[in-house]
This record gives sequence, C-alpha cells and structure tokens, in this order.
Amino acid sequence: MKLRHAAASPFVRKVMVAAHELALVGRIELVPTNVSPIRANAGLAAENPLMKVPSLVTGDGQVLFDSPVICEYLDSLAGGGLLFPPASSERWTALRRQALGDGILDALVLARYESVRPEDKQWSGWTDGQMAKAHQGLAAAAGENLDGFSTIGHVAIACMLGYLDFRFAEDGWRGRHPKLAGWFANVSERPSMRLTRPPAA
Ligand code: BEZ
Repeated sequence: MKLRHAAASPFVRKVMVAAHELALVGRIELVPTNVSPIRANAGLAAENPLMKVPSLVTGDGQVLFDSPVICEYLDSLAGGGLLFPPASSERWTALRRQALGDGILDALVLARYESVRPEDKQWSGWTDGQMAKAHQGLAAAAGENLDGFSTIGHVAIACMLGYLDFRFAEDGWRGRHPKLAGWFANVSERPSMRLTRPPAA
C-alpha cells in the first residue's frame, strides 16, 4: 500500500496512528507529498481528485480517501472490528467521537490557513468564527469523558489535540479542560502517538 504523506497533516497523523495501533505500519510505503491550499499537486491530482492527503493506494490499486475511509480499510485488513467496533452503541459512540475530532480539525485547519494568508487579506471574523466552532467542539470532546484508547474516536480526538498544540500553542485549552488534558497526557506516551508527532512548528 502507498500512503500520500505530509508530516504536518493531522489527518495523515490519524491514519498513521491507526496503522501503528493495528500493527500495519510495515505494510505501508509513505509517499512524501507537498500540499498547499492554493497550489495544485499534479501527481496527487492524478490519484485523488480532491488533491488532499491522506490518500491511499491499496494493494489491488484502488485509491481510498479520506481519513475515516482509510482508517476503516486498515481496520478491516487487521481483522475488522478493532478501532471500528461492530454494529452496536459502542460503534456509534466511536463514529460520533471521530466526527467530532475531525470536525474540530476542519475548523482549526481553516483558521490556520487564514493565518498564513497575506496580512492585508486576513479576516479576523473568519478566524473567530472557526475558533468558536473549535472551542465549542472541544467542550463537547471534554464532555465525552474519554477513557483508554480503543477506538477511532480516541485516535481522532488525540490527533486533534496534537494539532491544537502544534499550530495553536497559545490556546490554553488545558486550563479549560483539565480532565481532557490528563487523558491526552497519558495517550501521548503511546508509541503510536510518539512516533507520529508533527515536526517542530
Ligand atoms: C498544516 O501545516 O497545518 C497542515 C498541513 C496539511 C494539512 C492540514 C494542515
């Protein structure tokens, strides 16, 4: 399998954390890929029409995107029903948490992209709106009372918190959500999280 990889992408990290947790890393070849919100990447476009990472070419040549689909595919390769519990209320909890973590990340990435636009084109109303969504989502993540690291929901929320630290180090979320911070401190020591830390900002 070949995975389009960018070390700063929290969605790529999510796939890599899942791959580590499922002991599949050795079967994945990483293809370093430059991504930009404004510049096209012809190689990536030929593979994934959305020109986004992560994008996975499977052993039989199928292209899968984006991170929820790739993670569920990896789970199936590892036997199924591991990070994605089989149909049950546990499954819906895991999928809801994944959607929450991914949705907060969407808002954070939009805020991040706004911050790298030319200064005279930045709009604080946009950034404030995205950060309000992210902060409301964070409060909901804190309300999930996370325990352990057994599902894709844990993986998604952990990668979201890692991105928050990476790109918004001044956010101060630990002061608002100390229990969530305690959970994140514990899970950050897992090999899957340590081995996929983003590069220094
Ligand atoms: C970032 O550098 O923050 C970033 C990179 C890829 C995807 C999303 C965000």
